[in-house]
Amino acid sequence: MRKLLIAANFKMYKTISEAKEYMNRFLPLVKNVSDVDIVLAGQAILLPLMVELADGSNVEISAQNIHWEDEGAYTGELSSKTAKSFGLTYTILGHSERREYFGETDETVNKRLKNALKNGLKTIFCIGETLSERESGKTFEKVEKQVKEGFKDIAVEDLKNISIAYEPIWAIGTGVTATPEQAQEVHEYIRKLLSTIYSKEIADSFRILYGGSVKPENAKELMEKADIDGALVGGASLDPEKFHKIVLH
Ligand code: PGA
Repeated sequence: MRKLLIAANFKMYKTISEAKEYMNRFLPLVKNVSDVDIVLAGQAILLPLMVELADGSNVEISAQNIHWEDEGAYTGELSSKTAKSFGLTYTILGHSERREYFGETDETVNKRLKNALKNGLKTIFCIGETLSERESGKTFEKVEKQVKEGFKDIAVEDLKNISIAYEPIWAIGTGVTATPEQAQEVHEYIRKLLSTIYSKEIADSFRILYGGSVKPENAKELMEKADIDGALVGGASLDPEKFHKIVLH
């Protein structure tokens, strides 16, 4: 019922020539895939090139963050209005690396989310707990707070343009993946939460992706779980052959 969404997060990797080579190798590998939405998130400076190369393909291009204003004196930030003006369709928001190293809070992520939706960007909205939060039994509390505060005052009709990526911080870039059962437990909790806040219908149509050391070897068992509707992939997405195997899983 829910179409899978599988997204690559290139983070601060790839030069212009590496990005070109990636696109040239990756696009033909996935050209016949129609049952998965495929998204590539590159560094801001690579986005125009990636949008141009993906034109006419079944791959959409995403920013890794956008600002909460359309324009203004915000040196170093990326405007969703500008991004949208050259064909970008997605942005990631609230990634744990933004929260940890760049002071993002639930409040700033909420502001960015409102601006992205206003300017017609679909959003991959990241949440997840640290290892100490998990070990002290606070996982559900943490993700509930991130969803409630992150989605504050978001119009119900905009929810269809948001996917949540549940990314336990202890699993990001560590090689340690949550087991499919651990991930499913949290995904189920998030879906129930959405059902309580909004409605069962909205919760049932909402895509919840898993992220954190997803690789070709574990993608299938994760995405077979009832409430896992795709993946946000960092390290293993940097190689087009590996990422294509995840898309095909
Ligand atoms: P990883 O990163 O796949 O390298 O763990 C995932 C992410 O940060 O989105």
